[in-house]
Amino acid sequence: MGERNISKLPFSSNIKNAVLYHHENADGSGPFGKAASETPLYAQLIHFGDILDVNCNFGAQETDKYVKVFKFIDDNAGTIFDDKLCTLFKSLFDKNMIEDLQKKDLIVNLEKVVPKEYVEYSKDKIIEIMNVFARIIDYKSKFTKNHSIGVAQKALLMGEFYGYDDDKCCQLYIAGILHDIGKMAIKNEILEKPGSLTDDEFTIMKNHALFTYNILSEINGSKNIASWAASHHEKLDGTGYPFGKKAEELDHEDRLLACIDIYQALSEERPYKKGFTHEKCIEIMKDMVKSGFVDGQIVEDIEEVF
Ligand SMILES: [Fe+2]
Ligand SMILES: [Fe+2]
Repeated sequence: MGERNISKLPFSSNIKNAVLYHHENADGSGPFGKAASETPLYAQLIHFGDILDVNCNFGAQETDKYVKVFKFIDDNAGTIFDDKLCTLFKSLFDKNMIEDLQKKDLIVNLEKVVPKEYVEYSKDKIIEIMNVFARIIDYKSKFTKNHSIGVAQKALLMGEFYGYDDDKCCQLYIAGILHDIGKMAIKNEILEKPGSLTDDEFTIMKNHALFTYNILSEINGSKNIASWAASHHEKLDGTGYPFGKKAEELDHEDRLLACIDIYQALSEERPYKKGFTHEKCIEIMKDMVKSGFVDGQIVEDIEEVF
């Protein structure tokens, strides 16, 4: 699955089999029984970083982490890891660089070694990339297997209904695809919990909208997309999340994405309910209008278009 997804992304280097073979050990004891010489360098690099992080836990701050890291590499050179890769790593990473990898400003420290690269793509290419992201996000839970793509397609439909130009429709589509990208950081036990969430679980769940905002704000020229996507759980009365924005702070596209997300979720099966019909979705949404949560005109437009 990972290999199929990654093959659709426009990498500038040949990454064929990099994901497929990233659990192979250098001595051929991995799931496909491939030795290091039979797997691409990128697969070995992912394997190296993956196993090193799992065993040395870079998320936990420890003094003299580098001692543990270099010992783990030496202990596993030639069996789990390719010998040449171990030698190369030790020649590139010194004590200070290893210590930097466990600090809070990991990304800043990493970018000193591997600078950020900005690439521009055509609209068609972006849509192609976005559809890969939709599959990755939606695959997280069987209950949301068509959620992101469904929100995106409906956002595009509504954009066309409002007569927005191509650029804006494309941005709406992207915001639709990526609105729940922050859910990648939320455990499935919470996403798929059949009963209602505890207060703590709900607080964790709510973080996904903020994560979406943080991730999308990093992309150049995506101010609209980040705002529209991250506002999909905001409510007109200010009781939504992540920012608790009020009606006057929510523009038409923020409100549109919120309505489409609700409609899409209502029409889908969940652990606790079957998918509702169009009529039932609209009925529930009209109650939400009365409660002051969502935009009444948009709900009427959705009733007409879907
Ligand atoms: Fe969401
Ligand atoms: Fe959603």
